[in-house]
Amino acid sequence: MTSSDAPKYPNAHLDRTAPLRIVLTGFMGAGKSSVGALLAQKLGWKFVDLDEEIVRAEQRSIAAIFESQGEAAFRELERLALARALAQSRIVLALGGGAMENAANLPLLTEEPDTLLLYLQAPLEVLVSRCELQQRTQPHAALRPVLANRAELEERFLRRAPLYQSAHWTVDTAGRSPDEIVQTILMQWTNIPRSR
Ligand code: S3P
Repeated sequence: MTSSDAPKYPNAHLDRTAPLRIVLTGFMGAGKSSVGALLAQKLGWKFVDLDEEIVRAEQRSIAAIFESQGEAAFRELERLALARALAQSRIVLALGGGAMENAANLPLLTEEPDTLLLYLQAPLEVLVSRCELQQRTQPHAALRPVLANRAELEERFLRRAPLYQSAHWTVDTAGRSPDEIVQTILMQWTNIPRSR
């Protein structure tokens, strides 16, 4: 094995058959929030949406944070919100699509034995059309400043793909409803301790 083949996250083999936290990652439009809320409901766990936690803590929208302080400041607020969220047990946590770009977040997500990181995967065109559909049908949904910059979108997607792939398990979401995705997760992880 060459050094480039060496596993990036050496503890990824840790047994996570009965996790106490399930974290959903993936690009914008992956379904992290809708799948996460449904999964939490089925388990009787708390659902935490990282973007909403930031908005609540800052009392401002994500678009307003990007506009007044820039992306780097948003990423720092995101890092702090993530550390707070991961201090809880029996939560399903939906990350923002860029949270894994912050190297400081990766060990918290991939190396903690009680934390299961699932990647909700779909091709970029599927993700973009889901976001556009959401914008048309839910005009009050939070604006995504990163989505507005179409020129950079593919580059971001390609840059993030290997980070998402470091998750413990990948679920293909294209053409599947949140309900079907939740069923797939629950069939794979049958030992998750339920609160109801
Ligand atoms: C972002 C994704 C958004 C939100 C912010 C930045 C990104 O979350 O965190 O607008 O960089 O991909 P969703 O993935 O939930 O849309």
